[in-house]
Amino acid sequence: DWTMGAYREEMIAKIREQVGDKKVICALSGGVDSSVTGILLHEAIGDQLTCVFVDHGLLRLNEAEQVVSMFRDNYNLNLIHADESDLFLGALEGVSDPETKRKTIGKLFIDVFQKYADQIEGAEFLAQGTLYPDVIESVSFSGGPSVTIKSHHNVGGLPEKMGLKLVEPLRELFKDEVRALGHELGLPASFIGRHPFPGPGLAIRCPGEITRDKLEILRKADAVYIDQIRKHGLYDEIWQAFAAILPMRTVGVMGDGRTYDYALALRAVTSVDGMTADYYPFTHEFLGETSTRIINEVKGINRVFYDCTSKPPGTIELE
Ligand code: XMP
Repeated sequence: DWTMGAYREEMIAKIREQVGDKKVICALSGGVDSSVTGILLHEAIGDQLTCVFVDHGLLRLNEAEQVVSMFRDNYNLNLIHADESDLFLGALEGVSDPETKRKTIGKLFIDVFQKYADQIEGAEFLAQGTLYPDVIESVSFSGGPSVTIKSHHNVGGLPEKMGLKLVEPLRELFKDEVRALGHELGLPASFIGRHPFPGPGLAIRCPGEITRDKLEILRKADAVYIDQIRKHGLYDEIWQAFAAILPMRTVGVMGDGRTYDYALALRAVTSVDGMTADYYPFTHEFLGETSTRIINEVKGINRVFYDCTSKPPGTIELE
């Protein structure tokens, strides 16, 4: 695409002009926006950039390894893999309130990022994958919505706190343009087309108290569910799909024995921007087959529900 090719060159020139010979840090989440930001910065300033990937222990099955190896294999950028799962999971022990979970994770994220940033001597800039809709939203929100449904704690407020200047190369782009730019930069298609994943990760897909045991079961079940969706060729028709482990055990029967295990909720929605959403109308065959596979393949789950709530009145995530 020639327009994206031109945009890419223009952005690289702008970044070089803004940053000069100074150092830049960037938080990679594994999502499209931060990935494109990191790769663009790397093209512009090479070794002056250091990316930090914070693993909060709430990622999906093999996700940290996949993200890190995608960057290490395809791009020769400075990347710190910060495995801080013990810290995050320790702080979340006994926490069951959704907003307390988000605040705990958001605060720790800032602390951890700051700790790694401090190790990079002379860093003056923070690169962020802010998109045009984010810019618009923060303007239109200045009047203030009267009700906050969920506080999204990502890296907002980070630069001021750390005394860093911002580099936001995607500020003029919409999501589909960022995807096109990612394509232009050689980001694998499987990465570009990934469903959105929330900053607090699996914490908000584990309603109630989070335990390592539940997280492990959830990771396996979610992987089977997504595998089913891909095998049926439905992944790209769906805006977001995931499993959530419910805070209840139910009785079941397997072979000659009684089971008393967790119940799982499957969620899948179509949406344009995540503000409203419709539940995805899977066939009964698909749901039956998926339920059977999950119960057979994942120890710890003996019952599967499908969430047929649209947004509103539901939200996409369960918390
Ligand atoms: P809800 O659940 O509010 O989700 O209908 C709308 C979209 O936002 C994502 N989401 C979050 N993203 N931090 C994030 O970065 C959060 O705390 C958070 N909560 C929800 C959700 O995955 C969906 O794409």
